[in-house]
Amino acid sequence: MSQAEFVIRRPDDWHLHLRDGAMLNAVLPHTSANFARAIIMPNLVPPVVTVADATAYRERIMAALPEGHQFEPLMTLYLTEATDPADVEEGVKQGLIKALKLYPAGATTNSDSGVRVIEKIYPVLEKMAEIGVPLCVHGEVTDADIDIYDREAVFIERVLSPIRDRFPDLRIVMEHITTEDGVAFVNEAGDNIAATITTHHLIINRNAYLVGGIKPHYYCLPVAKREKHRLALRAAATSGRAKFFLGTDSAPHPTHAKESACGCAGIYTSINTISCLAHVFEEEGALDKLEAFASLNGPAFYRLPVNEETIRLYKSDAPLELPSTVAVQSETVTVFDPGFPLHWRHEDMR
Ligand code: NCD
Ligand code: ZN
Repeated sequence: MSQAEFVIRRPDDWHLHLRDGAMLNAVLPHTSANFARAIIMPNLVPPVVTVADATAYRERIMAALPEGHQFEPLMTLYLTEATDPADVEEGVKQGLIKALKLYPAGATTNSDSGVRVIEKIYPVLEKMAEIGVPLCVHGEVTDADIDIYDREAVFIERVLSPIRDRFPDLRIVMEHITTEDGVAFVNEAGDNIAATITTHHLIINRNAYLVGGIKPHYYCLPVAKREKHRLALRAAATSGRAKFFLGTDSAPHPTHAKESACGCAGIYTSINTISCLAHVFEEEGALDKLEAFASLNGPAFYRLPVNEETIRLYKSDAPLELPSTVAVQSETVTVFDPGFPLHWRHEDMR
């Protein structure tokens, strides 16, 4: 399909880092301008581990929402070995908690409180399978002897497959998949297993952060892999299959914390994701699948209604001029540079 204008339901973001305090205030307006809802990652310091934590965090998010913006944060809990199944059940019953997040300890930014011994969370997983609340997984093992490029495939084999076999009814989202192994696992699994795909993993491969000097603004976790994996992700995202949907994993860090001898992982895409996606889907001849990926498949998996509002996407001759950084008090956050001009714009339909 090649066209210069079309309308889709308002997108949602099924994996987002909003942070807290000044950073929350700076980045939330970009999400709420573009998305109706987002699954809010709980990896604050300290993490969001109880329903009480999630209630308070939700209130801080709502307080930071710009006037006139409509946005619904979908709250998650950070699974620890001490998570209480009764607390989870209560949060889900209240309608507050929409998913639980499993971070293997040490896998990524602020994951020190994550799970070390997976069997310790079996009672919570059993409760989750019973009440139907999804488990979102950061699918990488953290063993020092496993090469970083193999960590997703090894996670599938050692952690995810056993969880799926033991809890066949558990609904699982494999977050930000980055490999053809991830795509294959999800494609072959039953309907209760889905995956999010980020904007940046559809655009960059590992050359982006390694060729011509180290490029810290393309460093995120899971790291982008080789080209064949990026192509597998593109095929999955543009397939229209209900199992694949958008989770930007937009993850702001101060610019100086990324441009460092030990730079933080995370790419900030909330501000230009929709234009980037339209570009990618057009390249793939799949603009007619963008709505499924960004606006329909996610709510279907999470058993939520689709958004009634719509947006109009249109192509302009002049490229979109977005700021390359966003101010956060005396710091900045660097915006994802896709490496090509963006011509797709969008506006709310009223
Ligand atoms: C995320 C962050 O900064 O919180 N970083 C990232 O590279 N994606 C954590 C995560 O989702 O792994
Ligand atoms: Zn993330």
